[in-house]
Amino acid sequence: MKFFIDTANLAQIKEAQELGILDGVTTNPSLMAKEGIKGQKNILQHYVNICNIVDGDVSAEVISTDFEGMIKEGKKLAALHPQIVVKVPVTKDGIKAIKYFTDNGIKTNCTLVFSVGQALLAAKAGATYVSPFVGRLDDNSTDGVELVERIIDVYNYYEFETQVIAASIRHTMHIVKCMEVGADVATCPLSAILGLLNHPLTDIGIAQFIADYKKVNG
Ligand code: E4P
Repeated sequence: MKFFIDTANLAQIKEAQELGILDGVTTNPSLMAKEGIKGQKNILQHYVNICNIVDGDVSAEVISTDFEGMIKEGKKLAALHPQIVVKVPVTKDGIKAIKYFTDNGIKTNCTLVFSVGQALLAAKAGATYVSPFVGRLDDNSTDGVELVERIIDVYNYYEFETQVIAASIRHTMHIVKCMEVGADVATCPLSAILGLLNHPLTDIGIAQFIADYKKVNG
């Protein structure tokens, strides 16, 4: 099981890396914009900066919607750093691009996945990762965790090697539930990762131990 952090914020990436549990990073154009990263040169440099903080895979998303554009952009992104994974949306051109990248030894993350059928095509094209968006499905009255479970069942049945990233994670229970159904990766905001630590009995226990120690030792 792997933890990715879903952000382009360097301070948060560093904090998760220093925690010692980080396996990679996912970004998207919205997350890059949130950090105020603009202009081709700065965007590419930001991906390199992220790669220099973490040891694992770093997903960088293409903006193009046509096959040729995706290939051009994806090659440029992949050339930036060996840790870069090219993130491609699950469209007709996207699936063709994933197949091309697979055949050319470039890792991919098939994104914006909301159905088993989409995940099936991503795996057939040889995607390294597939990203079902749990939170966005839940936002639309559909069980996101259930989709993750169904994709995993199909992948296991046919022995596909594509790894399932539970994406669009909003909170700790999304992480726990996705792990319970066997997701390979959860890509999460830092707050959700740190939220896993929270339990009032832990806080009460620590306070009690310190108080008891002080009673005897002053
Ligand atoms: C995953 O790779 C996506 O970038 C991300 O998880 C989307 O999350 P959101 O629905 O919170 O925007």
